[in-house]
Amino acid sequence: EKDPRIARISSAIRVIPNFPKPGIMFQDITTLLLDTKAFKDTIDLFVERYKDKNISVVAGVEARGFIFGPPIAIAIGAKFVPMRKPNKLPGEVISEEYSLEYGTDKMEMHVGAVEPGERALVIDDLIATGGTLCAAIKLLERVGVDVVECACVIELPELKGRERLGNKPLFVLVDGA
Ligand code: PRP
Repeated sequence: EKDPRIARISSAIRVIPNFPKPGIMFQDITTLLLDTKAFKDTIDLFVERYKDKNISVVAGVEARGFIFGPPIAIAIGAKFVPMRKPNKLPGEVISEEYSLEYGTDKMEMHVGAVEPGERALVIDDLIATGGTLCAAIKLLERVGVDVVECACVIELPELKGRERLGNKPLFVLVDGA
């Protein structure tokens, strides 16, 4: 039932224990980018899913949503919109604060990048607690965009980020350790 391309993608992702701090098993997608077939398969799997869904916006979350988002956007004929860390975007922005393990962070998007009524896909490399994707969804919905689905290469299911997304659909390729 599982697509045969998934196993190769999964084994191309390197897991680095205790990065960036003790106890974290870091899911390193840079090794996936080195495997030309696995990287292409990753993009193809997303493109196959989203090409006929009338999506006009691919919103990529900094930093690694900037790697997977643009090739998907080009292939499905959508625009790419970066969702950035604070004070990086030069134009007028709207921002959304969200909570981290300790403290808060902010995500920003350019005003005018999207129009009310557009249909968006939100893409990132990984969902852990889901806080990051939630902030991205809120930003887009605040300006009247319909977030059709969120997509990640990796999910850490034990952190239950999927539940935090409520009824917003989430599509992932592999589960991380
Ligand atoms: C990681 C990952 C997601 C986010 C997921 O980014 O790439 O963007 O965490 O976590 P969450 O589901 O608990 O919100 P990271 O914090 O490493 O920032 P970076 O992409 O700028 O390196």
